[in-house]
Amino acid sequence: MPRVGLFVIENVRAVDPSRSLDETVDVVVEKGRIHALGPGAGTEARSSENATVLDGSGKWLLPGFVDLHAHLREPGHEYKEDVESGLRAAAAGGYSDVCVMPNTNPVNDTRAITDMLVSRAKDAGGTRLHPIGAITVGQNGHELTEMAELRDGGCVGVSDDGKCVMSSAVMRRALEYAKNFDIPVIQHAEDHDLTRGAQMHEGAVSEKLGLRGWPRVAEDIIVARDLILAEYVAARYHVAHISTHGAVRLVSEAKNRGIPVTCEVTPHHLLLTDESVLGYQTACKVNPPLREAVDVAAIKKALADGTIDAIATDHAPHSPLEKDCEFDAASPGLMGLELCFGLLLELVRNRDITLERFVDALSTAPAKIAGIERPTLEEGSSASFTLVDPERRWTAERGTLHTKSTNTPFLGREILGKVLLTLAGGDVAYDMDGAIS
Ligand code: DOR
Repeated sequence: MPRVGLFVIENVRAVDPSRSLDETVDVVVEKGRIHALGPGAGTEARSSENATVLDGSGKWLLPGFVDLHAHLREPGHEYKEDVESGLRAAAAGGYSDVCVMPNTNPVNDTRAITDMLVSRAKDAGGTRLHPIGAITVGQNGHELTEMAELRDGGCVGVSDDGKCVMSSAVMRRALEYAKNFDIPVIQHAEDHDLTRGAQMHEGAVSEKLGLRGWPRVAEDIIVARDLILAEYVAARYHVAHISTHGAVRLVSEAKNRGIPVTCEVTPHHLLLTDESVLGYQTACKVNPPLREAVDVAAIKKALADGTIDAIATDHAPHSPLEKDCEFDAASPGLMGLELCFGLLLELVRNRDITLERFVDALSTAPAKIAGIERPTLEEGSSASFTLVDPERRWTAERGTLHTKSTNTPFLGREILGKVLLTLAGGDVAYDMDGAIS
């Protein structure tokens, strides 16, 4: 990955919630570090003949995004995505850091797989990869993994994502064990007994389509149980892809009582409802399923007030083999790394959330949950930031994306807001217009 010598972005709106910064500034980057940031800070550097100067007017400079939840499919399903293509997609989406789920084949339940991922990511360069190890061996739900080894290899959390830890006893032990290493246990909250054979959210639409429904309570019951356990053992608990108004209420009450819980929401659960499934749209089949307007309203409000800490993509690439088929046979999941920022900017435009909260949920809050170095616009820090144009119109089309997959209902939709440049740890991970590389 290229590391550029000296460049200046002039007159850019810099927003960094971790420093309560929202100001039009110049930023000077030298040898991968933020050398200076402030009004007029670029004057001296711009006169150097080695400096590349970018006009930042109308653009925003934000701390690099951190995704808590992506599936990069390596090892095992590289035809859908691999570490290299996934990290390129992440960089194009503005991510300086991405945490990858362990439901690969084999599952990332050992130090060997963790080491392999870390080494593959080093070779790829650019966006940094942080593995999430499995909670149980082979995600079998019974036998705990060697979390100490996983953590020593670089795992920032544990999860059996795609599957729920159904046993209360195993979940209790997982929370107790993970607490020793101060890593969160990330739960895929789904009572599988209540969702057997389910294809979509249980409600009027599932009835109309004749598809077996997946009730909200399947999520709520697990979240309620886990919160009781997290309180009992005083351990960090994180709810993946929260989707129901009931689960949001439970998390809110738990936070008010001081239970160490955090949670994340995906772009699709914020933007779509179960009505999108009408016509048996397999692109909208996802786990947890798209819910109803009442849930979307509750999660938007919870994101705005911080009850929901982070936005996570749940980037879940699948090929046409798994999606161009009958609804029952289709795999659940949507890809999302490249689209998340542009799609969700609409929430800021509609004043559902403030820009500050949006950036916090994309960057600062998830970095804290993962316990990784927080991307920041602080002078002296290594440059991990993203430059975006909130007014650039573009369309996500086949052949123009960096991910190997195209499973999203947003394909062909015009999006307002585009990532132009991403730096990760001082390296240029993405440079859309070739402005500095
Ligand atoms: O829709 C989903 N797809 N939800 C998950 O939890 C797993 C993911 C996948 O791995 O495809």
